[in-house]
Amino acid sequence: MKIAKTVASARAFCQKAARPVVLVPTMGALHHGHGALIKKARRLAGKDGAVAVSIFVNPTQFGPREDFSKYPRRWENDLAVCRSGGVDLLFAPAVGEMYAKDHSVFVDASSLSQHLCGAARPGHFRGVCSVVARLFLILQPDLAVFGEKDWQQLAIIRRMVRDLTFPVRIVGHPTIREADGLAVSSRNAYLLPAERQAAPGIHDALRRAARGATRAAILKEGRRLIGKIPGARLDYLELVEAETLEPAKNRVRPMRLAVAVFLGATRLIDNIAVSTRS
Ligand code: PAJ
Repeated sequence: MKIAKTVASARAFCQKAARPVVLVPTMGALHHGHGALIKKARRLAGKDGAVAVSIFVNPTQFGPREDFSKYPRRWENDLAVCRSGGVDLLFAPAVGEMYAKDHSVFVDASSLSQHLCGAARPGHFRGVCSVVARLFLILQPDLAVFGEKDWQQLAIIRRMVRDLTFPVRIVGHPTIREADGLAVSSRNAYLLPAERQAAPGIHDALRRAARGATRAAILKEGRRLIGKIPGARLDYLELVEAETLEPAKNRVRPMRLAVAVFLGATRLIDNIAVSTRS
């Protein structure tokens, strides 16, 4: 496995690599959710193609009061996950390698980032789009794998690729969960024992609420169930059209029921598919 810390060496590796090159962008602190994406990338690349994983805790997607400085960094563990996943290139640039001090050009997603997490985290998806666009330009992958756990991120990246004609195919991967249903996340490590115990209630609430017959019934039941989780504070619960992220009113196109919940100081997100009216 080649470890590249500079843009130049990562670019040189990908230019020489056999195709397809399949990229899995991450912020490190790799867990078995990331592991599943890497496995999928390995399958997509086949035995001749190359799997590239990027590890970069991207400062521009964190708000001023968010967890950039305390975001978990676990280099030795990340190396082991990448090695055992058959990764060919690990691109791990320092902040200064990706952002000049006077960096001033960004990529933004206007309409899609107004909903869900975008409303609560202004500038977050601008940071995500900007860094993912850079990764695509540096590594020029044929495919890139993203998790459905971050549904809004996946929808925005698909839209960015369409609108800016990036020559890359975006592949979504279903959410990987713990045995009790909690979506696997690097941020789960922040949970205190009592919060961790309560956290599976989030997925449970989504599943039960999604059975509702109408949009109003789904949202009402979801709010009620989240309200019963000890220590939980609802940030948002929305039923949206899967592709446009607009509130799903007539329930004819694919939908996601998406939630963000604070458990103590930790903000967790999750979402599930909701079937259309037949
Ligand atoms: P990060 O949170 O490290 O996630 C990297 C990728 O792993 C994302 O595509 C995310 O959706 C996926 N992922 C995380 N947990 C998952 C789970 N439980 N099941 C399935 N997929 C999961 O998302 C980011 O980093 C950053 O915003 C990034 C795209 C790298 C840009 O900085």
